[in-house]
Amino acid sequence: GSKSTLIINGTLVDAQKQSQQQLLIIDGKIAAVDKVITDYPVDTEVIDASGLYVMPGGIDVHTHFNIDVGIARSVDDFYTGTRSAACGGTTMIIDHMGFGPKGCDLFHQLKVYKGFAKDKAVIDYSFHGVIQHINDEVIEDMHAMVHREGISSFKLYLTYNYKLDDTGALQALNRLNQVQALTAVHPENDAAIALKRSQLIKAGKTSAKYHAISRPLECEAEAIARMINLAKLADDAPLYIVHLSNGLGLDYIRLAKQNQQAVWSETCPQYLLLDDKLYENEDGAKYLMSPPLRPKAELEKLWQGVEDGSIDTVATDHCAFSYKEQKVSGNDDFSVCPNGMPGVETRMPLLFSEGVMSGRITPEKFVEITSFKPAKLFGLYPQKGCLLPGSDADIVLFNPELKVHISHENLHDNSDYTPYESHQVNGWPVMTISRGEVVACNGEFLGKAGAGQFVHRLPFDKNKI
Ligand code: URP
Ligand code: ZN
Ligand code: ZN
Ligand code: ZN
Repeated sequence: GSKSTLIINGTLVDAQKQSQQQLLIIDGKIAAVDKVITDYPVDTEVIDASGLYVMPGGIDVHTHFNIDVGIARSVDDFYTGTRSAACGGTTMIIDHMGFGPKGCDLFHQLKVYKGFAKDKAVIDYSFHGVIQHINDEVIEDMHAMVHREGISSFKLYLTYNYKLDDTGALQALNRLNQVQALTAVHPENDAAIALKRSQLIKAGKTSAKYHAISRPLECEAEAIARMINLAKLADDAPLYIVHLSNGLGLDYIRLAKQNQQAVWSETCPQYLLLDDKLYENEDGAKYLMSPPLRPKAELEKLWQGVEDGSIDTVATDHCAFSYKEQKVSGNDDFSVCPNGMPGVETRMPLLFSEGVMSGRITPEKFVEITSFKPAKLFGLYPQKGCLLPGSDADIVLFNPELKVHISHENLHDNSDYTPYESHQVNGWPVMTISRGEVVACNGEFLGKAGAGQFVHRLPFDKNKI
């Protein structure tokens, strides 16, 4: 039968405004938004949101669930990963597919990942394609990936095993531009890192802090600037910079935006809140990831970028490993430690607390960077990212009065630590609604494996952003 829910007494927030309105959900979709809604089915369930913000559910466009990074497999699959996301106020994720067997075609990984997610995901999901090599077949298949499969973004790497060289990057940018896809890039200068890394290892400098020293921020900034220029050369191909960690890279992005170039950027809570001093702790391996945490001076520059719109989205790069079983060896030798940290559950509360409650950003801006812009850039709007009638009823209720000490024992991922242990946050997502169903409430997971659906995304259109 039909199911309906009416949310009353809350403060509705979207990317444009706040308003005291009621919101009616019927059969998983937002049916009405109005000052007073009187026309609803008799068996409608009423949720009293007094004192709460009612916002579009979070969209985390950068996760790595169930990923095999060669030396290890990450510990969150699409069940524990999306469960954790849901408990943190996120209602949709876009996962970065890992590399497939050498030479595989684009559809191969999509099939593998659809298998990973089906029957497991508790909230909606999609995937970014991954370009691990360029040949005629890959170039040809990009069109069907976008227009038949609904995969309208692809990532390429400028470092790691399957990095693209400049020729490959240019070819990818050109073709992805033609087929209406957004090119996302992991920008780091591979040659500079390889040289530094081998010098450090040769000198026996392998403790966790040398991981950061082996890939200084100039490695990232150089690759950002290079990709911006290659994108311009590729007939102004749209470009999305993932996990921006530093102010110099941000300056290049800002310059490109000033020149009206089609460039967007993402940062992550870890780069806004944590710094490279953590690598000197005895558990420094917990924070090993790429790009690494940066000197403290960079944090404020990134916040500035969030505030002035040079940074468009905040995602997590959730790539969780067990500290005790998989990462601990990185304390002595960063070169044998799988890269990545958990974070999908803490993104929304950390940003709400450090952004909204601390007065750095408005609630509207919070919605913009966590849901609205992600939806626009990745072909989900207006199905998601807003509170419009007809949109999916993906909603998060935030209580700004709740003070919480983050502790891993209260989180829902499958890792054994959080980088934010004992951080205090002001405000907490007290209810998460996915397609009209309450999937998390007051820290308790209420969702169902397999309830999440694969979302067919729209082609990229820069005129609609
Ligand atoms: O260290 C990280 N970030 N691991 C995940 C893969 C990536 O580079 O995004
Ligand atoms: Zn990356
Ligand atoms: Zn990543
Ligand atoms: Zn703990």
